[in-house]
Amino acid sequence: MSSIFVFDAYGTLLDVHSAIACYRNEAGPDADRLSDIWRTKQLEYSWTLTLAGQYVDFWTLTQRALDYALARVPSVDKALKPKLLDAYFTLDAFPDARTTLRALKAKGHRTAILSNGSPDMLKGAVDAARIGGDLDAVLSVDVVKMFKPRPEVYALVTDYFKCAAGDVTFVSSNRWDVMGAAAFGFRCFWINRGNMPNEYPDFPPQQILRDLNSLDFVV
Ligand code: LAC
Repeated sequence: MSSIFVFDAYGTLLDVHSAIACYRNEAGPDADRLSDIWRTKQLEYSWTLTLAGQYVDFWTLTQRALDYALARVPSVDKALKPKLLDAYFTLDAFPDARTTLRALKAKGHRTAILSNGSPDMLKGAVDAARIGGDLDAVLSVDVVKMFKPRPEVYALVTDYFKCAAGDVTFVSSNRWDVMGAAAFGFRCFWINRGNMPNEYPDFPPQQILRDLNSLDFVV
């Protein structure tokens, strides 16, 4: 039976740390710390603005988070900023992203991305990763001007596919995103690539998988 599979983008299909990986030598020994602060601040800004009832698009937040990370990690040359932002705009997909989307489409399922990303940055990344042909929709929070995990964001999926929340399988490697999606009523798969401890016990995923390849065995 055809189902609807919706994927988070950053961290799930797209490797957010692949930008720093392109410039690891130039960035030096604090490269990973910089990349971690960059990602943490990017998400923090999305949550705090949404809590305050405010919205600034995710690409702007990505740039501001990098400015903050570069200020916190002075050993990394600030001249890397434009190169890192270019790399973030065209992030590498995880090796299992393309094969998984292709396999789902081959089985007749419908597929989509639901992401905090702004429409421009999502287009840049989807084109660079060459996954657009295997996606029925790329849905950005920009329409509702609030970020995950607000329920209005997950409702973009049920509005688009004109379906009930229980008809959607949501796939994310961000445990907090799985929490929001489960609270909305999606059936959730948590991709726990880093073997992290589980969280949000009141909002468990239906399955915990090591990577996207494992999806093939459970759908
Ligand atoms: C996204 C962020 C949460 O793609 O990774 O929505």
